[in-house]
Amino acid sequence: MNLNNQLAVVTGVSKGIGLEVVKLLVEKGTTVAGWGRTAPDFTHERFHFFRCDVADESSVEIAFQATVKKLGEDIRILINNAGFGVAGPTESFSSDDWKAMFDTNVHGIFYTTKRLIPAMKKADEGHILNVASIAGLNGVNQFAGYVGTKHAVRGISHSLYMELRDFGIKVSTIYPGSVRTNFFDEIPSVEANENMMRPEDVALTMVQTLETHPNYFVADVECRPLRPKGKKS
Ligand SMILES: NC(=O)c1ccc[n+]([C@@H]2O[C@H](COP(=O)([O-])OP(=O)(O)OC[C@H]3O[C@@H](n4cnc5c(N)ncnc54)[C@H](OP(=O)(O)O)[C@@H]3O)[C@@H](O)[C@H]2O)c1
Repeated sequence: MNLNNQLAVVTGVSKGIGLEVVKLLVEKGTTVAGWGRTAPDFTHERFHFFRCDVADESSVEIAFQATVKKLGEDIRILINNAGFGVAGPTESFSSDDWKAMFDTNVHGIFYTTKRLIPAMKKADEGHILNVASIAGLNGVNQFAGYVGTKHAVRGISHSLYMELRDFGIKVSTIYPGSVRTNFFDEIPSVEANENMMRPEDVALTMVQTLETHPNYFVADVECRPLRPKGKKS
């Protein structure tokens, strides 16, 4: 898709991967509606922030209506990026944290996607890009709930691409390894560090996935730091 003059929705834009994707898209000439709980410290004539908690369907509906009113309904790109993880042993894990992860990481994708499919079908063109994780491919010790959400993202994405491909809509999934973002602020056992990937590199891969020929579809992208423990001395 040629990204110039397209209209995109990106969720979770205050920082991290989502904010880097926004910066790249506006440079490409895309108008971006950023749906998030917190506004980023970033302004651009093609960037518009709409307050939205993706875990709350009524909040998603309000952001959707406000976006259509301000920017029009021809939204052909949706990047489901908003997400978070909580770690810990299952026997003492908070049920509220467990449900909150599923509400944001899984149900949030449903709430946004169902609203944007009709415009993409009408245009006979669209791209939905879901941010999973390598936690969507493997088990991770102490992360049963988060891993469960990201495995769900994988299954949802694969089923959606089968459902939507005949309408010209691509559904891609990216599975990053560790990325140096605020994601780890809530995870005491892991600290973001220099050996993790940079969010701008993950964002670049995401944008390249969008910029493909209409009949070329990248289903899954797995990316990892080359040297997760640094250079051997
Ligand atoms: N960092 C990693 O190692 C890594 C690896 C693989 C996958 N991922 C995935 O990448 C995505 C982005 O994470 P990140 O690393 O960029 O983390 P981050 O820096 O913590 O950013 C997360 C973003 O999601 C937003 N968000 C969280 N819950 C939300 C909700 N209910 N509604 C709307 N926005 C919400 C946050 O907004 P607030 O500022 O309001 O909290 C923030 O903008 C997530 O889906 C994460 O699971 C991260």
